[in-house]
Amino acid sequence: MAISRMTVLVVGATGSIGRLVVDEVMRQGHTARALVRNPDKTRQLPSEAQVIIGDVTRPDTLSGAVDSVDAVVLTLGSDGAGRVGAENIDYGGVRNVLRALGNRTARIALMTAIGVTNRTGAYNRATEAHDWKRRSERLVRASGLPYTIVRPGWFDCNAPNEHRLVFLQGDTRQAGDPSDGVIARRQIAEVLVRSLSSDHALHKTFELIATIGPAPDDFDALFTPLDADSQGALDGVHDIANMPLEDEPQRVRDDLDAVRTHRSASDS
Ligand SMILES: NC(=O)c1ccc[n+]([C@@H]2O[C@H](COP(=O)([O-])OP(=O)(O)OC[C@H]3O[C@@H](n4cnc5c(N)ncnc54)[C@H](OP(=O)(O)O)[C@@H]3O)[C@@H](O)[C@H]2O)c1
Repeated sequence: MAISRMTVLVVGATGSIGRLVVDEVMRQGHTARALVRNPDKTRQLPSEAQVIIGDVTRPDTLSGAVDSVDAVVLTLGSDGAGRVGAENIDYGGVRNVLRALGNRTARIALMTAIGVTNRTGAYNRATEAHDWKRRSERLVRASGLPYTIVRPGWFDCNAPNEHRLVFLQGDTRQAGDPSDGVIARRQIAEVLVRSLSSDHALHKTFELIATIGPAPDDFDALFTPLDADSQGALDGVHDIANMPLEDEPQRVRDDLDAVRTHRSASDS
């Protein structure tokens, strides 16, 4: 199948995954546009990548980034910045990029994390990072945009012979350590970018890990058997229902209403 060339905005482009996403976007024949908040980091990126200086916490800096994009890959992270960082960057960054898109239709690939529905573990109790990442997933689902949500296992904890990709659903692996699953960073980037051009990845949420075996060639064979998220549902199709909307902070419910209203207004 011929894949048309897309302009792909990478949000988190200077991160450990985002840099590889930029490479992968270009390797798959697309144009990479990198959102970079620290101009000094531009030199880490290939010279062919378009660079836009911007900060997801400053919506006024995002309009140029989303101009004429066909797709957006979000690999943002606020690691070490605690609850405030999780809300403002992992969640608020996704919200602000969706707002900046306005009524444009762009394909979305969002990276969150395996175990994102685990609310009671020590990590989430300390940082709320799972909860805020899960709320960012909910915004993407509510946006009505075509999306894929990828929840990777533990980065680069794979053995050299572990490249056979396994996609799981329901987020049932919640030990909070690499026994939940491992995956090479480069393969995370590849799956995120592959999802953008596959109809079989549409509206799907899955955990991404690797086991012993070779890397795949046929990504549609991996995307196709997955169940799509239920239309109108906030959570992934087989996720545990442990985040009732009525218990959510009012500002989060307002953001969901705003993203739904905005998109339905732009459809009419
Ligand atoms: N480690 C694991 O095994 C694992 C497994 C699954 C999921 N995860 C999740 O993956 C994420 C980490 O991914 P990573 O390693 O790629 O992260 P990273 O290396 O820390 O990169 C984070 C990216 O987000 C950017 N960013 C942060 N705040 C921003 C802002 N206000 N405006 C614009 N860009 C901003 C950073 O920019 P700067 O370069 O300017 O800082 C950087 O490009 C974490 O959230 C983690 O929960 C990790």
